[in-house]
Amino acid sequence: MTESKHGALFTPLTVGDLTLKNRIVMAPMTRQFSAGGVPGEDVAGYYRRRAEGGAGLIVTEGTGIEDPEALDSPAIPAMYGDAALAGWKRVVDGVHAAGGRIFPQLWHQGALRDARKSPTHPHLPGRRPSGLWGPVGHHSLPKDYIDTVISPTRPMTEEEIADVVVAFARAAKNAIKVGFDGIAIHGGHGYLIDTFFWHETNCRNDRYGGGLKQRAEFGAELVRAIRREIGPDKPIMFRFSQHKQQDYYARLGQTPDELGVILNALGDAGVDIMDASIRGFDTPAFEGSDLNLAGWAKKLTGKLSSTVGGIGLSNRLEEMFAGGETKALDNLDRVLERFDNGEFDLILVGRGMLGDPAWSDRVRANAPLAPFDRAALGRLT
Ligand SMILES: Cc1cc2nc3c(=O)[nH]c(=O)nc-3n(C[C@H](O)[C@H](O)[C@H](O)COP(=O)(O)O)c2cc1C
Repeated sequence: MTESKHGALFTPLTVGDLTLKNRIVMAPMTRQFSAGGVPGEDVAGYYRRRAEGGAGLIVTEGTGIEDPEALDSPAIPAMYGDAALAGWKRVVDGVHAAGGRIFPQLWHQGALRDARKSPTHPHLPGRRPSGLWGPVGHHSLPKDYIDTVISPTRPMTEEEIADVVVAFARAAKNAIKVGFDGIAIHGGHGYLIDTFFWHETNCRNDRYGGGLKQRAEFGAELVRAIRREIGPDKPIMFRFSQHKQQDYYARLGQTPDELGVILNALGDAGVDIMDASIRGFDTPAFEGSDLNLAGWAKKLTGKLSSTVGGIGLSNRLEEMFAGGETKALDNLDRVLERFDNGEFDLILVGRGMLGDPAWSDRVRANAPLAPFDRAALGRLT
């Protein structure tokens, strides 16, 4: 085979008891093809094809922990119950047979749960640390949805918080039992964990609120609980973001020091990989430095980090949702430059890999990348 121009991405990486064959990761992407929360053969085939196409690691779509308020759509897969776990075992076995590795992304939608989509629990509004949905800032959410969620609800009680922590830990245990290679946690984008971090949605004055350290406590507590369940060797990857779906311009940390307080609490709790969710991989996180959010996460914590956002593509996710055309763009040299500088250790590819299961092999073979066709959003190919 011809030598890859991007050979550095095809070097192995060891984290905990896992060695990944390369640095290319399929980003978590909600698909809603799992009727009744059970991933079927079509879902297994979808993930197996990405492993066959050379991805070093797959992070699944967000999967629900056991809490009636965790998710809205019943077509989002669950990480509990015999049928769903049997479905996940088929997914994991298929990925492993193709030489791939896979983490489930554990998810609680919190305030962003759209109760109208839930046939079983349409009366439950979704859990919130202080009952607040958040300020209506810059976002792309429809007004009719905002109207249904904007009124304050009851803040979570300490007992409810403890139950959700246990549900995260149980889901992680279930996942490792069916053979997943590690655990990914969705702590970004304005979902439940992120609303504990965010000062706009967390006004608690108990041990989960107040200063930054207290606002990090819920996330840290559930990471510790997961670590206890899965032992010291299985990797934990934690997704965080500055932006929220309630407000794209929101910030988790106004300064690197502030960000460091939250990320170090998570790192100390047991996170191995800081998954910095941004919409454009080359966006500097703070003024005065070119480092992106993953670069800062690595610098502040000394942990491994991953980047994401527009890799191989001409636009950012929100530009695509606003109607923009997503062309192929060979920006891998710019990704590699940052990678070679040690800014991050892994790259996550979302739409690129959704449209092309063999994205990774294509890069390895120096073949041109494909544009992203929005029709892929509605298919499980
Ligand atoms: C259809 C779709 C579904 C997504 N669902 C999730 C999700 O469940 N969890 C998550 O953390 N991010 C989710 N994302 C964000 C992606 O993981 C990724 O960060 C984003 O698409 C930017 O990467 P890209 O420019 O390579 O597409 C989703 C993105 C898309 C396109």
